[in-house]
Amino acid sequence: MSKRHKGLFITLEGIEGAGKSTHAAYMAELLLQHGHQVLVTREPGGTAFGEQVRAILLQHNALNINAMSELLLMFAARAQHIAEIIRPALEQGKTVICDRFTDSSYAYQGGGRKISPGPIRVLANLVHPQLNPDITLLFDVTVETGLARVKAVTEADRFESETMDFFTAVRGAYLEIAAAAQERVKIINAEQDIESVQAEIRQIMKNLDLC
Ligand code: TYD
Repeated sequence: MSKRHKGLFITLEGIEGAGKSTHAAYMAELLLQHGHQVLVTREPGGTAFGEQVRAILLQHNALNINAMSELLLMFAARAQHIAEIIRPALEQGKTVICDRFTDSSYAYQGGGRKISPGPIRVLANLVHPQLNPDITLLFDVTVETGLARVKAVTEADRFESETMDFFTAVRGAYLEIAAAAQERVKIINAEQDIESVQAEIRQIMKNLDLC
């Protein structure tokens, strides 16, 4: 694993209902128990500015946000997040667990909204030319299971209200990313019960010598 920064940068990805936030908390706990300093954060969001951008992006609104504006807002929030939170934490040697990062832009704005990878790559190179996740856990779940889990607990936000086709395309894009970056992206079967998912997480953390 090549690493340019001091701390380890871990990102979590997956469609809605994959359980990322629950697993982020579990991972943080595990790494803390093994003596790591950990920072958990999320996108879009993570900063005061980013959380306001998040509110615009997620709420049902009459803004009629188009795909390119959506993509640019994701990267605006990301630029702030990297400068204010992610980079300083990595420089202090912390392990950063980030719930979503640029793979989400490729999956949602690319796969889901059909923006071609070219412009997304341009933005990624502009906003974080030197920063890429060291490791990414892709919590993979079928669209049916994911959406059923989400609908059981909360009222759907602007993304969660998208169609099955949209999420099928998002999931497909994630699996393509994983196939093209097997070293970095570890696929976890998130259809399983929580204990089995946690066992997979522990194994991956062990293989990385993190616990
Ligand atoms: P999140 O809070 O992780 O949703 P959930 O916890 O329900 O999985 O993310 C909010 C939404 O933002 C999610 O629907 C995916 C979307 N998103 C993008 O479309 N592009 C991006 O680059 C990011 C970071 C998120």
